[in-house]
Amino acid sequence: MDTQVAIIGGGPSGLLLSQLLNKAGISTIVLERSTREHVLSRIRAGILEWGTVEMLRKAGVNLRMESEGFPHDGCYMTDEDLMVHIDFKELTGKQVMVYGQTEVTADLYAAQDAMGTQIIHEVEDVKILDLDQEEAAVEYTLKGERKRITCAYVAGCDGFHGVSRKTIPEEKRREFERVYPFGWLGILSETPPCNDELIYCNSPRGFALASMRNAKLSRYYIQVPLTDKVEDWSDEAFWEELKSRLPSETAAKMQTGPSIEKSIAPLRSFVSEPLRWGRLFLVGDAAHIVPPTGAKGLNLAASDVHYLHEALVDALTKGDMTGIDTYSEVALKRIWKAMRFSWSMTTMMHRFDGEDEFAGAMRRSTLEHLASSETARRELAENYIGLPY
Ligand code: APR
Ligand code: PHB
Repeated sequence: MDTQVAIIGGGPSGLLLSQLLNKAGISTIVLERSTREHVLSRIRAGILEWGTVEMLRKAGVNLRMESEGFPHDGCYMTDEDLMVHIDFKELTGKQVMVYGQTEVTADLYAAQDAMGTQIIHEVEDVKILDLDQEEAAVEYTLKGERKRITCAYVAGCDGFHGVSRKTIPEEKRREFERVYPFGWLGILSETPPCNDELIYCNSPRGFALASMRNAKLSRYYIQVPLTDKVEDWSDEAFWEELKSRLPSETAAKMQTGPSIEKSIAPLRSFVSEPLRWGRLFLVGDAAHIVPPTGAKGLNLAASDVHYLHEALVDALTKGDMTGIDTYSEVALKRIWKAMRFSWSMTTMMHRFDGEDEFAGAMRRSTLEHLASSETARRELAENYIGLPY
């Protein structure tokens, strides 16, 4: 056997799993389609649940996050000038950490290099085989040469467009999907954040989000029609539209500046069941996609990694197959709760084409209820900071 666990995909899921398994003395080989530079060029969300923070601490990949990340006690939900503070610390005793996924990925790569683990970049035509045999196999092409590795298990950490999920026969997969009729136009700007905590905005013109990476780097999003293209939006047009959706007091003090990154991302909810097929296990975006409204993408990947790494350690060091046999069921229980929260935040805060005035009134009323009910705020806070593993 060439390695104990072959990991397809060198994004956050694959790297965190490799880090935890190698720390437990289990050998891995990570097979990544892209170059490291390309993986690290991806701009992704920036909110870590405290469970994810603790996973990174357990993985020994927390030093830079602790020094450069920003613990946040809460966030705001707004509807025009109605601003509701959701105080996570007061309502749940917990915080979230503002620290970009790109930084998490860079920290994981640095830790993996320090550990001397095997990460092979620019692999092509990955095939996952023999999942019902004593040893699984993964074939791939590297610099024109066909390779084959044998392993005890395969972790499919290769994202929504990867090969792992499709290795499970279509007739054995049950897929759930909701594609939202809008996208998020996001920019990064070297400007101070407009607020000390995140602001999720509902407005008659649509959703907006004011986020940040640090005191000098802001991250903003506005809901746009799926037909919009990035080139349709000048920086000036973006700032004007964003300000029109924020509470007027916040908009008035906002500092604008040139965008250093600008992109449009579609929104979908997606789950594929089961997460296991013989010796193959799906992790992270390979198994599920959430709309970014609930900031759950990376955090769900982290909880999948938590369950799978524990299952693999038990199986490979103690011969205890309990975790392996229950991984799909256990991980899906938490996945579906995060799926529901992300869907509810998205439907609660976005304007849908063709909706009647009742829909807007329902969104406003939801915010009014949050303003007046500590129970409602606590329910939102518990989901946002992350449900227990
Ligand atoms: N072979 C090898 N690698 C592949 C293949 C393949 N056939 N297909 C995809 N990959 C690689 C991609 O290049 C990517 O680097 O798998 C990796 C998957 O990483 P992500 O898509 O980031 O998924 P994941 O690691 O589960 O992280 C989830 O990333 O996309 C965000 O919002 C998402 O925050 C969430 C997080
Ligand atoms: C981000 O900072 O990119 C971000 C924060 C919270 C979200 C989505 C994205 O819900």
